[in-house]
Amino acid sequence: AAARRPLMAGNWKLNFDHLQAIAFVQKVAWTLKDAKHDFSDVEVAVFPPFTDLRSVQTLVDADKLELHYGAQDVSQHDSGAHTGEISGQFLSALGCDYVIIGHSERRADHGESDEVVHAKAVASLRHGLTPVICVGETAEDLEQHGASAIPVAQLGAAVAELPKDAELVIAYEPVWAIGSGQAASAEQAEAVCKALREKLAELHGQEQADRTRILYGGSVKAENIAGFMREPNIDGALIGGASLKVDEFCSIARFRH
Ligand code: G3P
Repeated sequence: AAARRPLMAGNWKLNFDHLQAIAFVQKVAWTLKDAKHDFSDVEVAVFPPFTDLRSVQTLVDADKLELHYGAQDVSQHDSGAHTGEISGQFLSALGCDYVIIGHSERRADHGESDEVVHAKAVASLRHGLTPVICVGETAEDLEQHGASAIPVAQLGAAVAELPKDAELVIAYEPVWAIGSGQAASAEQAEAVCKALREKLAELHGQEQADRTRILYGGSVKAENIAGFMREPNIDGALIGGASLKVDEFCSIARFRH
């Protein structure tokens, strides 16, 4: 993992309106500044709700923050009769670098199929956004197929025919570990992240596989992050609940200290 810059990404889900977002981002920025956080050592990103993005952009630009941000979803369409959708172009215009795609909550609550996830990855790249492609097995999948079969198949479907030089981030989030307080063990997570990197190498070549950051997500906390980060194929974390607390999120970002 030495050559890959770790990424600590906070997925806020349906939390914080734009005023709360401004207060939160300011506090994170101050805390990391006080700690002399080196952003070239560990990248930090937040994923607020759509309605907060303009406020986050204004703050990041005004204070020249090194914090990155992205959206939690994107439309596969660019314009037209798609009520309620948000295009990749709109997100690029708001200074987003990333977009989360195929989170298990969207797969479950909005019926997002592997085909939709793929189309959204294509749409992200079309607008210069780096897709954070989420994959992961349910408890039932784990029992029936073991840990890596489903995430590897989801990855294959999502990245099919994407350009070999595309910048991607993969997030392995076992569904049973999300919001449950029961994180995967570092060894379990490493085994699946290794299988995902091998799949990427098989599909897109070793160069892209070596370059792509693979994150673990699912009950990541300040107290367990160091264990995940010691694993060679885990390059950071996608953090839900713990990303809503300033001190805990900053401690996760500063896992080496
Ligand atoms: O996308 C991050 C998320 O699904 C993990 O949530 O609350 O278990 O850290 P949490």
